[in-house]
Amino acid sequence: MIEWDETFSVGNNNIDEQHQKLISIINDFQKKIVANPEKEVEILQETLDHLFDYVQYHFDLEEDLLSGIHYSHLESHIAQHQEIRDHLQNMKIRFINKQMVLTLEMVIFLQEWLVEHILGTDMKYKGLL
Ligand SMILES: [Fe+2]
Repeated sequence: MIEWDETFSVGNNNIDEQHQKLISIINDFQKKIVANPEKEVEILQETLDHLFDYVQYHFDLEEDLLSGIHYSHLESHIAQHQEIRDHLQNMKIRFINKQMVLTLEMVIFLQEWLVEHILGTDMKYKGLL
């Protein structure tokens, strides 16, 4: 489980709230799987769909804000968002094609990218938005 605290704050309330929402989607996913292991497939699908949509929404907004201030690392930031979008898209396709998407794989990926992206890449614009 990931706990949001001030160290995650990028200095913009809107984005902080969206990051909290992303964290809660991931935490809820883990809680639901533990509570209903027999529904793992449905929970995985539901979470992937939800996350996919929310991530698009969140990244679009963040990119708009950063482009509005002519952020100097915008290109590499967008490239990193794209990698995450591609990875989620790939998991969705594998899921639709009934190939295995392991719950554990998804949890590890989400925790790693979220923590690394927010604490590493997003933090670079702290104080600018
Ligand atoms: Fe970002």
